[in-house]
Amino acid sequence: MKSIVVVGSQWGDEGKGKVTNYYSSKADIVVRYQGGNNAGHTVKFNGMEFHLQTIPSGIFNEKTLNILGNGMVINPISLYSEMKTLLDAGFSLKNMVISSRANVDLNYHLTLDGLKEAHLKDKQIGTTKKGIGPCYTDKISRDGIRFCDFIDEDFPKIYAERLKEKNEEIARYGGEVIDLEESLKEYGKLAKFFKPYVKETVSILAKAKEENKKILFEGAQGTMLDIDFGTYPYVSSSNSSAGGAITGSGIGIDYIEACVGIVKAYTTRVGEGPFVTELHNELADTIREKAHEYGVVTHRPRRIGYLDLNQLRFSRNVNGFKYFALMLLDILSGLDEIKVCTKYELDGEVIDYIPASLKETYRCKPIYVTLPGWKEDITNVRSFKDLPENAKNYVQFIEKEIGATACLISVGPDHDATIIKEDIF
Ligand code: IMP
Repeated sequence: MKSIVVVGSQWGDEGKGKVTNYYSSKADIVVRYQGGNNAGHTVKFNGMEFHLQTIPSGIFNEKTLNILGNGMVINPISLYSEMKTLLDAGFSLKNMVISSRANVDLNYHLTLDGLKEAHLKDKQIGTTKKGIGPCYTDKISRDGIRFCDFIDEDFPKIYAERLKEKNEEIARYGGEVIDLEESLKEYGKLAKFFKPYVKETVSILAKAKEENKKILFEGAQGTMLDIDFGTYPYVSSSNSSAGGAITGSGIGIDYIEACVGIVKAYTTRVGEGPFVTELHNELADTIREKAHEYGVVTHRPRRIGYLDLNQLRFSRNVNGFKYFALMLLDILSGLDEIKVCTKYELDGEVIDYIPASLKETYRCKPIYVTLPGWKEDITNVRSFKDLPENAKNYVQFIEKEIGATACLISVGPDHDATIIKEDIF
């Protein structure tokens, strides 16, 4: 296939990093199309460990062009420090460009994110406080500052105008106002640094299409955090589902061939909001410790639950994925039996969708099927046929219930702890 979109099908943290690393080694171009440094994953390369939040995962391959798409909101301070680490480690970063249309996530966005959350008291979203929501708000209300403006000589003037309004808002929330001169000094230096990286990227992608290049679209967060389809308002502020790949890159609808949904073998969530299959028991604690389920960006413990096929079916519909990558299957080894939610019960009725209404979602009860577990350690298995029968059944049950094929199964954190069930890219 010449192009695929890799998308989280739950609440993020499904293991997209490992899958995008795997596929990015085969890609000519990797594009991140939404979100910002609210995402995060750790990549091991040549014995070194790197923590990426904004830069696409194809960066380690000098031949792969990495595009930070127009749909992203990019914090220049945080991106600079990420780039500096890579430059210091010997990577040239000549294979990275920033879309001139991407929005700049600025210091007042971060301040307002924190203040707005504090103001919500017990109704907090549990954001990463990286300024993502306020930055997208400015984009939609046409008050955003884009990278083409950030590197322009008029930036100080535009920034000063915006900061005046934002400082008034910050003061209304009782926050500490931001100093103009100090900010301009820092941003001025960064603008110079970023200038060579900022490019018009629609034309780059158009040329790549003409040349039949292989393109990987790397989604961040997950479908249930999508601004349109997630558990609103407990969501992020972008289209993290596959549709975002089109609007967040400018690729056009004629080039994307498939979407791969990333599915964790159980469910996790960070932040507040409904979670129908959530567990509050020893099993949840065991899984959290075994899989180290703590947020990469905020270090918060993740909430844990059984696999929710009702959610995955919804996610398949929204993204149109025919394939999925099943992650962290090894974490479930050792259990006598495993429950899987197939549908919800809402006020006595069986439903096969996710309600839009938050109140209704909170009233949904999971309908479970119990599947037999497996005791064997599967971390060294490299072929589907060698998995224990009950692990195979678990995979096949998911395939049948959601109507999609597992193309990749991850059985451990290492790159090679992977079963390729179908080679699609
Ligand atoms: P925001 O994206 O910082 O505005 O946060 C909104 C919600 O999305 C919060 O519940 C966050 O915990 C969640 N969130 C944002 N980014 C990620 C991610 O990369 N993984 C998992 N959850 C995320």
